[in-house]
Amino acid sequence: ALTSLRQVLDHAAEYGYGVPAFNVNNMEQVLSIMQAAKKTDSPVILQASRGARSYAGDIMIKHMIMAVSEMFPSIPVVMHQDHGNSMSTCLSAIANGFSSVMMDGSLEEDAKTPASYDYNLATTGRVAEAAHMVGVSVEGELGCLGSLETGKGDKEDGHGFEGELDHSMLLTDPDQAADFVARTKVDALAVAIGTSHGAYKFTREPTGDILAMNVIKEINKRLPNTHLVMHGSSTVPQDLQDIINAHGGEMPQTYGVPVAEIVEGIKNGVRKINIDTDCRMAITGAIRKVLNEKKAEFDPRKYLKPSMEAMQQVCEDRYESFGTAGKA
Ligand code: G3H
Ligand code: 13P
Ligand code: NA
Ligand code: ZN
Repeated sequence: ALTSLRQVLDHAAEYGYGVPAFNVNNMEQVLSIMQAAKKTDSPVILQASRGARSYAGDIMIKHMIMAVSEMFPSIPVVMHQDHGNSMSTCLSAIANGFSSVMMDGSLEEDAKTPASYDYNLATTGRVAEAAHMVGVSVEGELGCLGSLETGKGDKEDGHGFEGELDHSMLLTDPDQAADFVARTKVDALAVAIGTSHGAYKFTREPTGDILAMNVIKEINKRLPNTHLVMHGSSTVPQDLQDIINAHGGEMPQTYGVPVAEIVEGIKNGVRKINIDTDCRMAITGAIRKVLNEKKAEFDPRKYLKPSMEAMQQVCEDRYESFGTAGKA
């Protein structure tokens, strides 16, 4: 059955675990996540970006998610809009059956300009007011995702601000977070701690100067009852980089967010952990391997099935590590 984000995260807070939110664009990804959730008995957050909605179409996204909630009736499923950038994106998500929306007011609607605090407050508050009237949960974001190594906003992947950002914008301010949550009444708050979207987060294994877990601790002290969200939380595992590169890929060496750091975050109020890149890499590695090793193969199922198995493994690993397993 579809559930609100609020319900799932309240339960996670009560029992001290985190819930990965996986991005979905197609049937294979949705099924991989659900099989992993079934195997580990985990609640599920399926999230669709604006890009996902235009790639698959709103009707397809809606029916894929309704289909799996029918196929897996015992698993709670949240259908979440990832990075909504306006009131209209959030309202059209709600009209299409989403049970949760993110209003990312950290950037202006063009997603290229860092927003003023007043803009973020007003837009997110308005979305929360409307969404709550119909039982839909809201995630807000305060602070801009981006690299503390380069001082640049969310990088190569083309969403988000690409230019230089003031260092202070790359880290959520705990006092401002308290004010923001009180005034917008968001159900969950995404924070900026030096992570960015995509595979190229860090040029080395991150340490405290470039992955600011201390900021999470400070925010959690100010907001012990707010569900915190970590974006850009793929681990970018070495084995997935290696599989891709062993089969014709050319991904430069890179580092993501270690699972151990996320687990530390979960001890400090992080309840939703956004993951897309790891799943993309699992899929791509598996497909590259089949196509590289079996050059006469042309039945898509012959490479999509292994790609689903690889993605399912990533999802199972995260459900186990974050303590989600056994909580459905
Ligand atoms: O926000 C980032 C997610 O990885 C979604 O990416 O906008 O390319 O679908 P996307
Ligand atoms: P990754 O690119 O690290 O998987 O982050 C995904 C994300 O934050 C989606 O909102
Ligand atoms: Na989100
Ligand atoms: Zn994100």
